[in-house]
Amino acid sequence: MVVGPLLRKSLEGSPGLTRWLTNTYRGFFVDLHLLVDQLPLTTPTARLLNIGTGDGVLVGLVARRYPQLSVTTTDITPNQGWLIDEDLRDRIRLQVHTPDEIASHGFGETYDMVLLADVFHHVPVRDRSQLMARAWQATSPGGTLLVKDIEDRGIKARLSLWSDRYLTGDRHTELIGANAMQGLMVQFEPRARVDATGLVQRDFPNYLLIGQRVTASPSIVSHR
Ligand SMILES: C[S@@+](CC[C@H](N)C(=O)[O-])C[C@H]1O[C@@H](n2cnc3c(N)ncnc32)[C@H](O)[C@@H]1O
Repeated sequence: MVVGPLLRKSLEGSPGLTRWLTNTYRGFFVDLHLLVDQLPLTTPTARLLNIGTGDGVLVGLVARRYPQLSVTTTDITPNQGWLIDEDLRDRIRLQVHTPDEIASHGFGETYDMVLLADVFHHVPVRDRSQLMARAWQATSPGGTLLVKDIEDRGIKARLSLWSDRYLTGDRHTELIGANAMQGLMVQFEPRARVDATGLVQRDFPNYLLIGQRVTASPSIVSHR
């Protein structure tokens, strides 16, 4: 067993220590509070789908910052959300969508906002197009697709890649920079507007892209 999962297993009876170690380790790579600050979750009662729960710290921070947001989170494994605070468990709807289910049905519903944070670099390159198409499909017309990931340059990015591959044990981790991600977003929703936020300047190599779906299909005008 690789170091990350082994450490988590051996700390099963110590949630406080697990949380502290996880936050300290993750905090070296990304400032999650700064990320939450940059998320444009301005409509308080909106519905959010978070794709890729992981330990649940990020989705927990989002739910706490936006108390009226309706929050659903999904992962490909039921082993998710172990660090979601007890008092948030009733508010955050946890789902499992296997890769086969995502491929055949997508995520089932549509949401005002869909967030993928540090998910794409864990997805094998050949499967990324399909995930992007499904993420847009889950975003309602006029809704927002938020993609946070890691630039593929610089020492911190190298360290993060190495740590994902050899400490977490995800050997097919491959970084995807903001330009390539923007290209992928536009490829599957050509009429979307995709903008970068200032996250990359403030917390390099982390970046956040905001994709806005157009409200509705353009009306067909007939010229007689
Ligand atoms: C590094 S964690 C990030 C978790 C969380 N988004 C965060 O930023 O803290 C990546 C998560 O994405 C999940 N994942 C990988 N491929 C996925 C897919 N196709 N659909 C949904 N989740 C996926 C993994 O199981 C893992 O829990």
